[in-house]
Amino acid sequence: MFINGCKVDKDFYQNGAKYWKNVDPTVDGMLGGFAHISSIDIKGSKRFLSQFIEPLQSPNKKKKVIKNDYQVPVENERRALDCGAGIGRVTKNLLLDYFHKVDLLDVNQSFLNEARQHIGPDIYDQRIGQAFCSSLHQFNPSDDLKYDLIWCQWVTGHLTDDHLVDFLHKCQQILKPDGLIIIKDNHTSSDQIDDDMNDSSVTRPHWLYLDLFIKSGLKLVCEKRQYQFPKGLYPVKMYALKSCPSEQLISQKN
Ligand SMILES: C[S@@+](CC[C@H](N)C(=O)[O-])C[C@H]1O[C@@H](n2cnc3c(N)ncnc32)[C@H](O)[C@@H]1O
Repeated sequence: MFINGCKVDKDFYQNGAKYWKNVDPTVDGMLGGFAHISSIDIKGSKRFLSQFIEPLQSPNKKKKVIKNDYQVPVENERRALDCGAGIGRVTKNLLLDYFHKVDLLDVNQSFLNEARQHIGPDIYDQRIGQAFCSSLHQFNPSDDLKYDLIWCQWVTGHLTDDHLVDFLHKCQQILKPDGLIIIKDNHTSSDQIDDDMNDSSVTRPHWLYLDLFIKSGLKLVCEKRQYQFPKGLYPVKMYALKSCPSEQLISQKN
């Protein structure tokens, strides 16, 4: 298996799953000991997402939101998929403000089990659709699932390049017409890939993400760096992506 030409361990996926099995099902566990950045992370995500879709209930003090030219066309029931959802931190604090129903996808069943408690049993029972336990690269959604938005946060580094491209193709099959995929992840400040043997993941440079988006047939609608994260962490970017005819992708590359 390769990540931009570099061979990764044959046990890349097994080791990743093993690492997460030993992590506490808490916000601190999800954020590698950085629970204190959760609220600033969510604030940045809300600001980003609000460009494309309004929250279900507008906050009392309506902040001025700069709308992107591209808006997700929403119907009666809005539905999102949270990929690498863990205990549902992103779903609870972000996605449920914008979507009536959210499905969860994670490789770790005990995180998914904890999600009911973390999100709150009542809300969970009413608003969480399905909780899929699978690695992203083995996820086999049925064709009748359709989402307005697919959110992938801090999980793409657990996939090889080829599997990430396959997964992003799969996501496009389960998106409603003109739905969005959002990837929020670390990237390296250099042009290089960093690998982490501890949790069996890689951190990609920005250029490699752009390359893989093109290979996946995705157009980059907007990208933004997360502000105010502590120094010493990798920079984090949010990428909003939509399906695109191939001729437009060629011009995106040039
Ligand atoms: C850093 S945590 C982020 C959790 C959540 N997205 C958040 O921001 O709070 C990474 C999550 O990805 C999950 N994960 C790791 N490898 C995965 C894979 N191959 N497929 C699906 N989920 C995976 C882990 O179990 C863990 O819940």
